[in-house]
Amino acid sequence: MSVLVTGAAGFIGFHASQALLEAGEDVIGLDNLNDYYDPALKHARLDCLRASSGFRFVEADLADHAAIEALAADRPSRILHLGAQAGVRYSIENPHAYAQSNLVGHLNILELARSLGDGLDHLVYASSSSVYGEAAKVPFSEVDANDTPESLYAATKRSNEFMSASYARLYGIPATGLRFFTVYGPWGRPDMAYWLFADAMLEGRPIKVFNNGDMERDFTYISDIVEPMGRVLADNPQRGRHEVYNIGGASPVRLMDMIAQLEEALGVTAEKQMLPMQAGDVTRTYADVRKLQAAYGYQPSVQLDEGLNAFAEWFRGWRAR
Ligand SMILES: NC(=O)c1ccc[n+]([C@@H]2O[C@H](COP(=O)([O-])OP(=O)(O)OC[C@H]3O[C@@H](n4cnc5c(N)ncnc54)[C@H](O)[C@@H]3O)[C@@H](O)[C@H]2O)c1
Repeated sequence: MSVLVTGAAGFIGFHASQALLEAGEDVIGLDNLNDYYDPALKHARLDCLRASSGFRFVEADLADHAAIEALAADRPSRILHLGAQAGVRYSIENPHAYAQSNLVGHLNILELARSLGDGLDHLVYASSSSVYGEAAKVPFSEVDANDTPESLYAATKRSNEFMSASYARLYGIPATGLRFFTVYGPWGRPDMAYWLFADAMLEGRPIKVFNNGDMERDFTYISDIVEPMGRVLADNPQRGRHEVYNIGGASPVRLMDMIAQLEEALGVTAEKQMLPMQAGDVTRTYADVRKLQAAYGYQPSVQLDEGLNAFAEWFRGWRAR
């Protein structure tokens, strides 16, 4: 029995694979190692995973139907589908990458799940807080209408939820979508604000503060994602059940406060370049996590200062390698 983790060389996929391996699972990790950000980071994550005998890596593109179909031969009993073209702003620059990885890729994973039939106990996939768009009401709840995505990225993530709902219904696939809220931590993502800020601060470059800093994010430390996600994945929902849950820190922080905490963690004062809002972005995110709490006892526990300290310590080591 094995778990297929897509996007295993990515930030969340790496941590999730590590946790599964530590729990004694066999993991088939899939990734295409694309260069959206420095592939050296993806290779370094993979090197860590390869130290476990239970890990096997498959280099393939999610959009390659034949390659994904071939994974049925391994008969994974669970699929954790985290591979995707992430990032809101890049979806304006390179929309086709999102259509291929997130739409065609998601369909190929659903087709794989369909072909595994009763042998598949659970498909868990990554959605995003971005599906809420510029929502008027906070905190964001799963029951709120969310049909006004601000970016193509958000539209692909919302589409993944619809595609999964239809496949669950048609083919009895037990499926769960998790709407992640700004996940951060060691081995993180170089395109995200906390990383870009830290990098600029350590190099003495100004940081770009969009919307003049008037933004709020519900930051979620990586362990507050990985541990509960493991519990969700281990669950055996009824065949055909499809659910979507918010998974977030449930404690939004103002961007300027986050910058102050990062300055503290790095011991550097940032030079701030105040800029207008960027296309595709939203001013705030805030997760209502009561649904996940009720179903899986979710309780995020890592405060932003603690999480940024852990990131800063890892980041200094990464830069010095
Ligand atoms: N990190 C966050 O704050 C956040 C927030 C909301 C949603 N998400 C979602 O969570 C998932 C994981 O995100 P992450 O932060 O680890 O991003 P990431 O970019 O670090 O990881 C994604 C991985 O998927 C791989 N990938 C992309 N396209 C592929 C393709 N066509 N074929 C095979 N592999 C492909 C990439 O190479 C990468 O290693 C994604 O679905 C993302 O959209 C993340």
